[in-house]
Amino acid sequence: MDHQRDRVPLSEIVGRDALARQAWQMLAEKSIVLTAERRMGKTYLLYKLQGEAAVQQQNWVQGWLCLYQDLSGCSSPLEFVQSVFDTAQELLGLRRKAAEETRRFLSRFQELKVGPIQLPKSAIPEWKGILRSIFADLSTQLPDDRVVFLWDEFPVMLDKITEQEGGERIAGEILNLLHTLRAEYPRVRMILTGSVGLHHILNKLRQSGFNNPVNNDMDVLSVTPFEPEIAIDFARSQLESKAIPCQDLAATAKIIAQEVDNIPFYINGLVKRFRYHPQDRPLTIDVDIIRQEVRALLVDADNTWHMAHYLDRIKNYYGDIDSELVRLILDTIAAEEQAIATKDIIKIIQNTSQSPIPDQTIRDLLKLLEQDHYLTKDSIDLKYRFRYSLIRRYWQCQRG
Ligand SMILES: Nc1ncnc2c1ncn2[C@@H]1O[C@H](COP(=O)(O)OP(=O)(O)OP(=O)(O)O)[C@@H](O)[C@H]1O
Ligand SMILES: [Mg+2]
Repeated sequence: MDHQRDRVPLSEIVGRDALARQAWQMLAEKSIVLTAERRMGKTYLLYKLQGEAAVQQQNWVQGWLCLYQDLSGCSSPLEFVQSVFDTAQELLGLRRKAAEETRRFLSRFQELKVGPIQLPKSAIPEWKGILRSIFADLSTQLPDDRVVFLWDEFPVMLDKITEQEGGERIAGEILNLLHTLRAEYPRVRMILTGSVGLHHILNKLRQSGFNNPVNNDMDVLSVTPFEPEIAIDFARSQLESKAIPCQDLAATAKIIAQEVDNIPFYINGLVKRFRYHPQDRPLTIDVDIIRQEVRALLVDADNTWHMAHYLDRIKNYYGDIDSELVRLILDTIAAEEQAIATKDIIKIIQNTSQSPIPDQTIRDLLKLLEQDHYLTKDSIDLKYRFRYSLIRRYWQCQRG
């Protein structure tokens, strides 16, 4: 399909079969909030879904029509609606259909020509009506298909909107309207994802009094690291394709995958590191050298691994009052070799801190840190540890 251009082809997307299957199953019932730590592979999963849907279409298998959009460039409801409209029109055009209802709606305040339409400023107050008509068009014009919007960087867009005058109200209105549209047009679904957690935007809106349960009708799907075998295969193929000399390819691939918690972005980064330093490249790559390289990358001042956000965003996510406490909690957990129980964390924090801190404050922050993928809580012994050892090591490198 045409909007496949510029995207990563299916052949370059490794693994994720189980996740994609799960996404399709969930979509049959509901829309999805796709969550994960940064750089985990959310966008790649969206590309995979889009690629799989396109293959089905080519084979005349009835399935989903995917509309991928990167919304990071949108900072107003009109820009959002324009982008949705352009994408929807392109899809309808491919099916020799037109966005009739939307065009009718727009003709009220604009003379329409054939082809793309630039929404005028006068359409700003009507953005809700326009979005509603687009959903209506997709539903009525494509009665035999199901459509799913893949909205990447949706929270970034909302965040940009909230930063403007009266923006929090508008962001709330977008969320409300999408909630309504999901109920009214069940054959049009959406996957919301992005590099910022949606729950942070919702928390921010909650602080300004917006309390509607706007995503209680959606399922949550988490993108996790690769399964170990897939990570090892991936590391191996990266080593091979970049012609990195290893004495024992299989063993090297295994250690690389392990050392970066089976996360494809870091596997890629580590292998590249061996490639881009040919003059100091060791002849045999062993565990020590791999660990040394990981460490070098973790302390890397120019932030090759895009990990600075684990430190930088704390102030933004948790606010001035809680940031110091959050850092203290993470320092405490990073210092422990083993997972640690809530009551022990509370004890250490209360002993370390100068001012009294209520238990509940610490418990609430632990919960948020879990949602933000810093921590994970064991479902049996209920102890906390860093979700990824790589992030723990990063934290130690930066704060130790
Ligand atoms: N399934 C995959 N197959 C191959 N490479 C992958 C896969 N998933 C992720 N990667 C690698 O990791 C990088 C980051 O993935 P991606 O952009 O999908 O992450 P993201 O979760 O969307 O990140 P962000 O939160 O920054 O938007 C990709 O550019 C790619 O190099
Ligand atoms: Mg992304």
